[in-house]
Amino acid sequence: MKIFLDTANLESIRKFNDMGLLDGITTNPSLMSKEEGNPKAAMEEITKIIQGDVSLEVVSTDYSGMMEEGRRLREYGNNVVVKVPMTPDGLKACKSLSSEGIPVNVTLIFSPNQALLAAKSGAKYVSPFIGRLDDIGQDGMGLIKDIEEIFSNYDFGTEILVASIRHPVHVIDAAKIGADVVTLPPAVLEKMLHHPLTKIGLDNFLSDWEKLKQKNPDTKI
Ligand code: E4P
Repeated sequence: MKIFLDTANLESIRKFNDMGLLDGITTNPSLMSKEEGNPKAAMEEITKIIQGDVSLEVVSTDYSGMMEEGRRLREYGNNVVVKVPMTPDGLKACKSLSSEGIPVNVTLIFSPNQALLAAKSGAKYVSPFIGRLDDIGQDGMGLIKDIEEIFSNYDFGTEILVASIRHPVHVIDAAKIGADVVTLPPAVLEKMLHHPLTKIGLDNFLSDWEKLKQKNPDTKI
């Protein structure tokens, strides 16, 4: 399973990329709006830090606007994936951009039918938002199961990018289902790193080592 980071924060991107954890990045206009500084410079920088796919989202809602913005976004780097909303114009732009060789991530997917249609339009990724479904009392992970089952019957080549992830259990469940990609807020990825027994175990090793050094002061590793 690939891990993308769901952020435009350069510090977080560098931090987790240096650990070798990141296969890509997803951003959206809300995430971009949280960051200081020049958004264009940030988008360009992200495409340089990360080797894998970087989703950058259009803000136009009509076909020609999305095409214009999609082509411009792609100029930031050869690893840019253009993110378009799951609308009729979005799917039209998905088809055209894909046939120009520009990969597309269709975002704001909330039903299996939407995922099926986005795949038919040539999307490289579909982004079902599971947390937002959970928030309104619907079964977000159930949507991932349904899409996985549907896609496994055909040969679309479209990857399921599980989005709107809220906690580490979402990640385990998505991995069990076999989802292609999870995109994680930095806070969720941070939580996945830690376990209380790891900390207790390390503290014990270090204090035992200090005892050993008191008996053998010249010892070094
Ligand atoms: C995905 O590409 C979106 O950027 C993101 O996962 C949405 O998450 P949210 O529902 O927490 O805003």
